[in-house]
Amino acid sequence: MSRIAYVNGRYLPMNAATVHIEDRAHQFADGVYEVCAVAGGAIVDLEPHLVRLARSLGELRIPAPMDERALVQVMHEVVRRNRVGDGILYIQVSRGRAPRNHGFPKNAVPSVVMTARGGWSGDAPGLRDCVKVVSSPDIRWGRCDIKSVSLLPNVLAKQAASEAGAFETWLVDGDGYVTEGSSTNAWLVDGQGRLHTRAISPAILSGVTRLKLLELARTEGMTIVEEPFTVAMAQAAPEAFLTSTSNFVLPVLEIDGHMVGTGQAGPVTRKLQDIYRTYVRSHAEPGR
Ligand code: PDD
Repeated sequence: MSRIAYVNGRYLPMNAATVHIEDRAHQFADGVYEVCAVAGGAIVDLEPHLVRLARSLGELRIPAPMDERALVQVMHEVVRRNRVGDGILYIQVSRGRAPRNHGFPKNAVPSVVMTARGGWSGDAPGLRDCVKVVSSPDIRWGRCDIKSVSLLPNVLAKQAASEAGAFETWLVDGDGYVTEGSSTNAWLVDGQGRLHTRAISPAILSGVTRLKLLELARTEGMTIVEEPFTVAMAQAAPEAFLTSTSNFVLPVLEIDGHMVGTGQAGPVTRKLQDIYRTYVRSHAEPGR
């Protein structure tokens, strides 16, 4: 079955789905995106993804491409037409198509692209049990809270990880603290079983997985410390892990060649993996 993409009002086979070369996302990375997990055909955490999308658009003064009900309808339709049970839905909204000129064009109509595919990348063989991380300076801009498609530093960081035989690069700010991964949020578990993750600020993306996991962990009575940590602190911690929509919770067993804890997924990380998976499985957001 050919995959189907939604492009500006049309559902098209993937290889016929194109955007104009003067689309602002193509020319300037002038657009935003969302990635949602799909579980059993339902969109996981629909509401916080919609909230974050609206916020990203608002921060960049890109008008909403359609009203929320219509958007959600298209999201469900893309999942349905691609027969995705467990998988990922990708949504991209750009400022639209206009002759190339840096400033905002007048009267451009935002363009919308959506795709969906089966499978969660965190399910890849071996990944659930073994993730290596390397670190490098965070060279991104000052508004990493906006989920912009301008991802070149993230692309370079992920490539550096892969070339080092690692899964992720943790980005380090000018003060030596980890901001986040190139496409994931970063966490550690301290000797008292407390969870540490950096507080929300323009330095990181407010991960939907991060938000939900904080909520679930609090329900379990865990203590959360929303403060930055260094690579050395994470290397010395009993456990470290990362989170994202497509990977859920993945244990970090090595950082810059230093083994974390026992070199195996620790009990707190395992518990959070289980809690989060159970949540995803049980969570079917009804269509609105
Ligand atoms: N990445 N930090 C960055 C820089 C990210 O790109 C992402 C998401 C996250 C985690 O956010 P969430 O839990 O909402 O997925 C943190 C997505 C999955 C991506 O780029 O594919």
